[in-house]
Amino acid sequence: MKTLSLLLENNRKWATQISKTNPSFFSSLAQQQAPEFLWIGCSDSRVPANEIIGLLPGELFVHRNVANLVIHTDMNCLSVLQYAVDILKIKHIIVCGHYGCGGIKSALGSQPHGLIDNWLRHIRDIYQRRCSELLQFSTEEERINRLCEMNVIEQVINVGNTTIVQEAWQRNQTVTIHGWIYAISDGLLKDMDACVSSISDLARLE
Ligand code: CO
Repeated sequence: MKTLSLLLENNRKWATQISKTNPSFFSSLAQQQAPEFLWIGCSDSRVPANEIIGLLPGELFVHRNVANLVIHTDMNCLSVLQYAVDILKIKHIIVCGHYGCGGIKSALGSQPHGLIDNWLRHIRDIYQRRCSELLQFSTEEERINRLCEMNVIEQVINVGNTTIVQEAWQRNQTVTIHGWIYAISDGLLKDMDACVSSISDLARLE
């Protein structure tokens, strides 16, 4: 049973290190979680949610999928969102895309990838709607990166339009949705200035 022994060894070192700094860290986490933020990001291995915003275990509730999509019939994503808003009473939802997203590149290509093409179809839909703006960019890289940004805004709107967030706003629960984009090339996040805290904010973005 030598499989993945390096990873398990890493885990033991990590847990020991944290316990040394804060002996009650794990025992107090085991009692409850009270994160203030929900992260909806891409599955890309280069965009590790907690790490890039310096948050510890217990501080960030996370949902990741290919190309950080929020689809109205995705029970997995909606369940995470509902638990975060209704039970954990999370105040901030961060939708985080990233430049050079493989999911977005694949959506624009003509090569078939199997089942995932149905998932990526949602990105193609955005591309088709915003085609005239995207074609103003001369290089493919620029078009992909702009589409990565457009996708973030689109998903912020989708979060805002879920029954979960709409109902939270109706009962005056504070929930703010933020749209961010991450650059793998320098490790920096950019706020897309797409902050939504109410139905009227959402209408402005749409
Ligand atoms: Co990606």
